[in-house]
Amino acid sequence: MDFKTELKMYQDIVNKELEKYIRKNKCIEKVLNSAMEYSLMAGGKRLRPILVIATYKLFKENIEECMPYAVAIEMIHNFSLIHDDLPEVDNDDFRHGKPTNHKQFNHPTALLAGDSLFNQAYIVMSKDLAKSATQNKIRIFGEFSNAVDRMIAGEYLDTELEGQQISHQMLQYIHENKTGELLKLSIRMGAILANASEEDAKSLTIYAEKIGLAFQIKDDILSEEGDEKVLGKPVGNDKEMEKCTYVSKYGLQKSKEILENITNEAIQELDKYGEKAIFLKELAKYIQNRNK
Ligand code: IPE
Ligand code: IPE
Ligand code: MG
Ligand code: MG
Repeated sequence: MDFKTELKMYQDIVNKELEKYIRKNKCIEKVLNSAMEYSLMAGGKRLRPILVIATYKLFKENIEECMPYAVAIEMIHNFSLIHDDLPEVDNDDFRHGKPTNHKQFNHPTALLAGDSLFNQAYIVMSKDLAKSATQNKIRIFGEFSNAVDRMIAGEYLDTELEGQQISHQMLQYIHENKTGELLKLSIRMGAILANASEEDAKSLTIYAEKIGLAFQIKDDILSEEGDEKVLGKPVGNDKEMEKCTYVSKYGLQKSKEILENITNEAIQELDKYGEKAIFLKELAKYIQNRNK
């Protein structure tokens, strides 16, 4: 199967799974549920759940066991996007080619739809834990909470330091936390759930840290020179908000070189898995070359 077909196959699996968690009942608060569905099903790339599944598949075939965790991380991701777009944070009006949650609904609804997606993630995981609480799952639950904590810290710094010149270390710290942590968590969840050895978990974590940073550098590049129609979210907004990014600090050319180097390093980390890791290697290239 070629990469594009495989990616699409995984996206379909994730979308089908997420559908099962949408609350469509006619309750008094149904608009809140619609707001959650609106963002969750708006057309994201599903990278985080796909990383959970593809990493799990390096070691085990039956992906059913990892699906609740794949769903949970996508819910957290979407909570983070809804809040990231709010006027108090990035003040963006478009995402996935549609009005952002607070534009489509209203500000309190968006805020609370985000909160509710955040909590849903924990409901999904705790239901799975109630069925079978293996040592690996308990470990993952702790890592999950920790990664979410780090993502929020990164978002805080990213917002708070707008308009300031910051050091390379600080920029890296923000990127690692606001974006890298959830991507790293995805890969670690796949590995740990599949009972990978500590040594495997370690090399996959290195791969994860590299694609995590690569992902945000590419996001910074797309915010500078992406095509708004393809990207589905505003271009030029980082500049407008005076965000310190790889592009504002090092320029486009240098940022692309850094991106290329980190991507190659990430790919090398998977060499020892041979054919089995082809998809994850191509995924790193996809992150580097994506246009949305
Ligand atoms: C966007 O993430 C937010 C960042 C962490 C930079 P994605 O590009 O993965 O979001 P989707 O694909 O729209 O869900
Ligand atoms: C978003 O970062 C990171 C999180 C939501 C945790 P950005 O603000 O750089 O991402 P986009 O460009 O809005 O997707
Ligand atoms: Mg932001
Ligand atoms: Mg943003």
